[in-house]
Amino acid sequence: MARSTDSQFLHPSDINRRDVLQGAVAIGAVGFGGFSAAAPTAIALHTIQTSEPMTAYIGTATSRVDGRDKVTGKAKYAGEFKVPDLAYASVISSTITKGRIAEIDLSAAMKVSGVLAVLTHSNRPPMADADKAYKDDVAPEQGSPFRPLHDDKIMFNGQPIALVLAEDSETARFAASLVRVQYEEESHLTDVYRARDDAFALQEPAKPRGDAAVAFTAAAVRHQGEYYVPIEHHNPMEPYATTVIWDGNGKLTVYDKTQGVQNVQRYVCSVFDLKPGDVHVVSTFVGGAFGSGLRPQYQVVLAVLAARALQRPVRVVLTRQQMYSLGYRPAMIQRIELGAKANGTLDAITHDAITVTSQYEDFHRNETTWSALLYKSGAAKYTHKLARLDLPTSCDMRGPSATTGVYALESAIDELAVALKIDPLELRLRCYSDRDQTSDLPYSSKNLRECYRQGAEAFGWSKRSAEPGSMRDGSDLVGWGMATGVWEALQVPITVRAVLTANGHAEISCATSDIGTGTTTIMAQVAADMLGLPLEGIDIKLGVSTLPQSPVEGGSWIAASVSNGIVTTCDAVRDELLRLAQKLPDSPFATATLKDVALAEGNLIDKRDPSRTVAMADAMRHGGVDRIAREKTTTFTTDGSHAHNTHSAIFAEVKVDEQIGVVRVTRVVSAVAAGRILNVKTARSQIIGGIVWGIGVALHEETLIDHHFGRIMNANIAEYHVPVNADVHDIEVIFVDEPDTIVNPLGVKGLGEIGIVGVPAAIANAIYHATGKRVRDLPITLDKLQR
Ligand code: MOS
Repeated sequence: MARSTDSQFLHPSDINRRDVLQGAVAIGAVGFGGFSAAAPTAIALHTIQTSEPMTAYIGTATSRVDGRDKVTGKAKYAGEFKVPDLAYASVISSTITKGRIAEIDLSAAMKVSGVLAVLTHSNRPPMADADKAYKDDVAPEQGSPFRPLHDDKIMFNGQPIALVLAEDSETARFAASLVRVQYEEESHLTDVYRARDDAFALQEPAKPRGDAAVAFTAAAVRHQGEYYVPIEHHNPMEPYATTVIWDGNGKLTVYDKTQGVQNVQRYVCSVFDLKPGDVHVVSTFVGGAFGSGLRPQYQVVLAVLAARALQRPVRVVLTRQQMYSLGYRPAMIQRIELGAKANGTLDAITHDAITVTSQYEDFHRNETTWSALLYKSGAAKYTHKLARLDLPTSCDMRGPSATTGVYALESAIDELAVALKIDPLELRLRCYSDRDQTSDLPYSSKNLRECYRQGAEAFGWSKRSAEPGSMRDGSDLVGWGMATGVWEALQVPITVRAVLTANGHAEISCATSDIGTGTTTIMAQVAADMLGLPLEGIDIKLGVSTLPQSPVEGGSWIAASVSNGIVTTCDAVRDELLRLAQKLPDSPFATATLKDVALAEGNLIDKRDPSRTVAMADAMRHGGVDRIAREKTTTFTTDGSHAHNTHSAIFAEVKVDEQIGVVRVTRVVSAVAAGRILNVKTARSQIIGGIVWGIGVALHEETLIDHHFGRIMNANIAEYHVPVNADVHDIEVIFVDEPDTIVNPLGVKGLGEIGIVGVPAAIANAIYHATGKRVRDLPITLDKLQR
């Protein structure tokens, strides 16, 4: 079975990457390629007969199997591995934005007792020169990836330019403060508004339909607006960190914070010209990443450089401030035009987007896709331009392109509803589409209608009075707003190994990460149900590059991919158990086939006659085996006849202090349709996390750059505001029933990103309803409401 290069499970943004990644795999929001050397036989999941598992755990509110380890500190993160002879590092960052390093004076730093070395571009060990050596699985198609300490060129403020190595971390940091750098500065540009006229057009994001300009001009009711979302930084709790263990003879164990250990492993081997067997990468626990760890970050390069220079173990941990020298959610200027008939059906949608990237790589996603697919409209047109700034390359951040693109669309739809004097929920129902409007395909499942209905009912939407400023609570203006969310149900080829032992224990392994989403737990649940074992009998191994292949954890694709991957592999284990059971004298399974047999409570059970059972242990003992090991790759093929998406309806209440304009988001109801929910507890946590971040996007988050210096002014979590406890009030999550027999055998669609999409618009719309003020640039801060 061919790898699914021709699968339709492509992220829209990846359509133009297909040729480039041919031979590898081009699926998903971030794209990836390459496999572990020993790729086992690939099986197309839809061709095998999968029995519906007996579900003791799937679908339940199972607590995290690694929760205890996390709260007790037993779980170790990349910067926590302590080994004898460990050297500590401090990164020195550029204080200019563009130019070159003229001179670095190391003399004072080198005099400090305990300093081992200071690495710079001029004294570092060898590393690759060619661009392509630095192209990780998630690198943009166009451009030349950043090469830390490679040469004297400065491309962004905060760029790492030297690494101080010492016997302890305080010494390294102190010595770093003594390093004097002289620069030759060039003029720079960091302001998207000054770069917008030079932005260059990307390929047409989605097929235009009809003549949108003509249809817009002729429309009975029109709305046009420009919306802005600033640069945002990920700010995961865990800083980027790498501990490299020098195993001797050039062999390295790399504890790294990443969303993809095999991506980092291939990257390190490529940059340092190392043999695959000489580097293994471990990232068992990740303290949040949200897209910032899809690509290898510069600290891993610095740590490996240093370990090679010193020939001893090294730890590099970025400071919170240095976390702002990595990728970011690109700022986005969007223009939307909507034309409608008086009855609320759409005649025209135009969505133009400008996003930002660095001078050296072209990162973009297809930000206008969401407008293209969501609503029925006779005519539609989309454009996307990219502006170059003297900043690091932008990157994926939770719900990349949808968080920002759908914010603009769903704000514009709300404004159209006001112009039409139609309830905003009613307007969305009048434009509802049961087909993806871009591909003109039906969905494998789409229960957005039910999201609207259940969300509205739980929220009490019918009690809303339409007039802005008409609802009050004492001195607070009350606003109710809503929006639609949409994301993709993506899936990627994945390999899972299962080893079942006769004592009723199984080890399930796969190189995927668990970036904090609960992957480990859902893997254990699915495996327990598929193998008929208690949850405690399942041991999950992940986050190690030598395990069976997995792409990066991103795009909300791992839950669907790995759960169905476990089904495939466990089916093979069950098949072997059946073969062994059939060898028993007078076997009750003599005539049974795989589809007749389920595993439950340590037994093989004939589903046609559940009184017929054989203990798995007995079958194995009689067959003379004490373990059954299977490894299978699951790919997701499709006939291209359906679109696969997740949806949500978000209802938000805000209370705005009439005098001083303080906004509180007092209630949010999010109703989500995302196929089968594997774990209602971790799933709910994912959605809540997305909603909280949506509050941040709407009200708080903004990376502020002093454009004169090109330097971020609020590179810390005191001044880069994120929602804290006091900002978060009632949140209700509803999972709408959405059976899907087409997307994959388990009907799982993924939840990592849908939770945030639409939330900023729902809040912005609620603020308009409360105040009558339409703020079109995020975040909606007090000053903007006072204008
Ligand atoms: Mo996600 S932004 O693909 O980690």
